Amino acid sequence: MTDGGRTARGPAGGDDATRVLAGDDPAAVAEAAAAIRAGEPVAFPTETVYGLGADALDPTAVARVFELKARPRFDPIIVHLADAADLPRYAIDEDAADPRVAVLADRFWPGPLTLVLRRRAVVPGIVTAGLDTVALRVPAHPVALALIRASRRPIAAPSANPFGRVSPTRVEHVIRQLGGRVRIVLDGGPCAVGVESTVLLLARGRAVLLRPGGLPIEAIEAAIGPVGRIADDAPDAAALSPGRQASHYAPGARVQLVDPWPGPGLASAPGERVGLLAFDDTGRQAALFAADGPFAAVEVLSPCGDPTEAAAHLFDALHRLDAERLDRIVAQPAPETGLGRAVMDRLRRAAAHG
Ligand code: TXA
Ligand code: MG
Repeated sequence: MTDGGRTARGPAGGDDATRVLAGDDPAAVAEAAAAIRAGEPVAFPTETVYGLGADALDPTAVARVFELKARPRFDPIIVHLADAADLPRYAIDEDAADPRVAVLADRFWPGPLTLVLRRRAVVPGIVTAGLDTVALRVPAHPVALALIRASRRPIAAPSANPFGRVSPTRVEHVIRQLGGRVRIVLDGGPCAVGVESTVLLLARGRAVLLRPGGLPIEAIEAAIGPVGRIADDAPDAAALSPGRQASHYAPGARVQLVDPWPGPGLASAPGERVGLLAFDDTGRQAALFAADGPFAAVEVLSPCGDPTEAAAHLFDALHRLDAERLDRIVAQPAPETGLGRAVMDRLRRAAAHG
């Protein structure tokens, strides 16, 4: 075992203990890379959320990731690269040569941006769920980059949570949700961005936002011009991005987005345990936070109302509320600018559950 390694048993129990290894220890990264090369999934940090990674070129290893997460096979997985120069190995020339790809890669990689381009045949069908496109990103976390380099493989990685649940932004979240089911977790500390990457379709000369995320769409449009949107109910939405089904990011309790804020949903029924997920604490709503107030638990995403700070705290706050055994979580809407769009996207999907 590596120095600093910790052992944990998760809710799944079983004989296989999960080991948490220090991500800044080269020996730990080498051990995790060996596991990746042997076809075994490994949980690792990125700047957005923790991922559950496997060798993207090994269909059996990728199948294990689907099984571990109970992820439906129709939902494709992002392939993580250490270097933008590797992109043409996995995307066809026609899409890789789109000048917007170079502009975005230069400006935003490594970073929370995923590009969806038509795939080369080398990418196994299980990674792309049979689509003719592949999602590629260069993550901006030293541990993720070290793992990809040491394994000398592109790493296919969804977020390291059971399908449909809240994404992990701390190593404890991974242990709580997948402990006992994954043998190695690399610890890279809390994720700085806190919401998943922005997913942008750039295939066939199109430019369409498939998922708002850690890179604001404003920054992308400033770099490459206008980007299209697809509504969840658009006829081609499911075909372009199968992961967009409404219910996602769901904690155990029912989430209710109170819009307009404050609104009638804030009242609780007798005996009901309600938690508050507040966007800000700007003074207007001090009464809501009072110790003898109506809420069993309160989380404030950004006291001063900064959407970037709110995004960084969102999943951690949902995980903490999840631990409070609440009947219901009421959430205050975030302003839909910058990372506020990603926050609202996640809250809407969490609220669509159940
Ligand atoms: O920040 C992130 O993106 C994190 C970290 C680990 O990199 N990963 C992540 O993966 O959020 P996941 O699997 O939870 O979400 C990937 C999203 C899904 O909505 C999926 O449908 C979409 O990307 N996606 C993947 N491949 C695609 C493709 N070929 N075409 C369209 N959408 C794709
Ligand atoms: Mg996910």
